[in-house]
Amino acid sequence: HEQARELLRSKIRSIPDFPSPGILFRDITPALADAEAFTAAVELHLHHIADLDGQLDAIVGMEARGFLFGPILAHRLNLAFVPARKPGKLPAETIAEDYALEYAKNTLQIHADALRPGARVLIVDDLLATGGTAAATTRLIERLGATVAAQLFMIELVALGGRAAQGDHRVEAVLQF
Ligand code: PRP
Ligand code: HPA
Repeated sequence: HEQARELLRSKIRSIPDFPSPGILFRDITPALADAEAFTAAVELHLHHIADLDGQLDAIVGMEARGFLFGPILAHRLNLAFVPARKPGKLPAETIAEDYALEYAKNTLQIHADALRPGARVLIVDDLLATGGTAAATTRLIERLGATVAAQLFMIELVALGGRAAQGDHRVEAVLQF
């Protein structure tokens, strides 16, 4: 796994001052564009939550980049996939949570009937920064009566403290920067 991790790490590109001055943006698109690195990423994600096999009902992925790995992992694990989306995108009844980002402010919504009470959920997103997005997603899931078994990210930006923002929830990251 260490070789796979190093391959994946080598395909993360760092772009200074995007999307605004002072932000060092970790760009995962080179990792997606390299078939070997993409496969390594999927296998490493699965490795991090291997102990949860048989203990999950659904994956919730956040728009937009939670839609990259979330559905792949749901398919591999034979789980439901539920999208959490930016406002105004989901057509049926929704619930919403506001959150602050490293460089913006936003809202996420989820369909009110998307998870049954007691469902055991894995949250999947590409990157954990301040943790606002993941915390808002956790609130949405828990408001529906479901539980968050773990949160899984390809990248954790350690200096931004997103892990601490998740309280007691389990956080797994394939790579740390
Ligand atoms: C990025 C990233 C995470 C979030 C992490 O998404 O994909 O969802 O920010 O930041 P946080 O831990 O500080 O909340 P973004 O909101 O930029 O939206 P996008 O996926 O549509 O690009
Ligand atoms: N890189 C990529 N996505 C992000 C970042 C970052 O530094 N911060 C918040 N989302």
